[in-house]
Amino acid sequence: MKLWSGRFNKSTSSLMDQFNNSITFDYILYKYDILGSIVHVKMLYEIGLVNNGEKNKIIDALGIIKNEIENDEFEFKIEDEDIHMAIEKELIKKIGNVGKKLHTARSRNDQIALDMKLYTKDKIIEIQNVIKVLLKTLIELSEENISTFMPGYTHLQGAQIITLGFYFQCYFQKFKRDYERFDDILDRVDVMPLGVGALAGVNYETDRFFIANKLGFKNITENALDTVSDRDYILEYLNAASIMFIHLSRFCEEIIIYSSQEYNFFKLDDAYSTGSSIMPQKKNPDVAELIRGKSGEVISNLFGFFTTMKGLPLAYNKDMQEDKKYLFGTTKVVLDSLEIFNNLIKSTKINKEVMKNACLNGYLQATDIADYLVKGGMEFREAHKIIGNMVSNLEKENKIFQDMTIEEFKKYSEIFEEDIIEYLKLENSVNMKKSYGSTSFDSVIKMIENSKKFTNEN
Ligand code: ARG
Repeated sequence: MKLWSGRFNKSTSSLMDQFNNSITFDYILYKYDILGSIVHVKMLYEIGLVNNGEKNKIIDALGIIKNEIENDEFEFKIEDEDIHMAIEKELIKKIGNVGKKLHTARSRNDQIALDMKLYTKDKIIEIQNVIKVLLKTLIELSEENISTFMPGYTHLQGAQIITLGFYFQCYFQKFKRDYERFDDILDRVDVMPLGVGALAGVNYETDRFFIANKLGFKNITENALDTVSDRDYILEYLNAASIMFIHLSRFCEEIIIYSSQEYNFFKLDDAYSTGSSIMPQKKNPDVAELIRGKSGEVISNLFGFFTTMKGLPLAYNKDMQEDKKYLFGTTKVVLDSLEIFNNLIKSTKINKEVMKNACLNGYLQATDIADYLVKGGMEFREAHKIIGNMVSNLEKENKIFQDMTIEEFKKYSEIFEEDIIEYLKLENSVNMKKSYGSTSFDSVIKMIENSKKFTNEN
């Protein structure tokens, strides 16, 4: 028998039970549901709706139910519909009529809103903690590679020389914003919804501030109708997760490219690669590919839930029960992926020589040489043309800038002096970058300092 069966003349079909239930996935909310109920009954006691004995009986029984669930002694039944009903039904089974008082001044609509907010708050903190682990790894990797040269690309064509330390600091910034984005959301999740009832408020002077205080919420919601219809914070969470996953996916794409035989910048650890069942020479970057692939799931969860919410009339609608699949699914993918990704990059070997040679062979100093001429008095456009011509000739002869003698340089312009040879050292190209936030050793050292400040303060 359903707890809400009073106005029904027959029981629901089992097909309906199968289709309607959320217990198969919302059971993971049990500890939030029980916590919310315990605080709710304490509040009912404070305002005189249950007596001390009743309150204690309910709290004790809820504690027993929690233990049973955690020891796998609790049977979740499809016909119990959802976690709220399953627990309340068991409570009544255990302590009889007293248990029937728990749902006074409460509806499942504000109850689920509370459970979801408690879950989301916890998961934001969990995700932030894992992001922080990744941020620290990126700091370590940057420190180890302040002077590791690397080709920087635009259009995936060699552009200018950067350092690997600078590259890792680039991703530090992206994941730092993700961390902050989750922080911003936390402010809006931290608003307590319980005690507004189904949609209009309840006919009792519930002390919602008492509940918020006991549960550690900063604030309480302002409008009952909004409270039970609001899932903005889930959309925001799915959005933050999606943006973060785009960062992960782009990073993975580069790891895949850089670990290919053609690039050979990175060598992936055997523990995070797989072989081919037919081609003996293969070592595949599956972790990076899977994370790149899973971005599809994370982003479609965002779009999926946007679509579910679009056009819903106020206030609660059963459509909103679907929020769990999106939220729980994304949370699992995000936590799993962040953890393994951190291990992947930590264990990757860097082929510094190969990266250095790629810098030399790609004519990546062309802009720097043009700037040499500009500093000697030539107009930039003119210098651009001359160096373009130089590259084209070198390419034909299969030579690089470093193969040229001072006499050869002079053929292109009298501005060139002996110091062009020194000027062409890779560290000079990097350290010539003077603007704030550039790839120069000093600039990256400063970046790392700021990054450390961030991880220490958060
Ligand atoms: N299982 C429901 C959900 O997750 C709980 C709220 C049900 N409310 C209702 N009016 N049927 O959304």
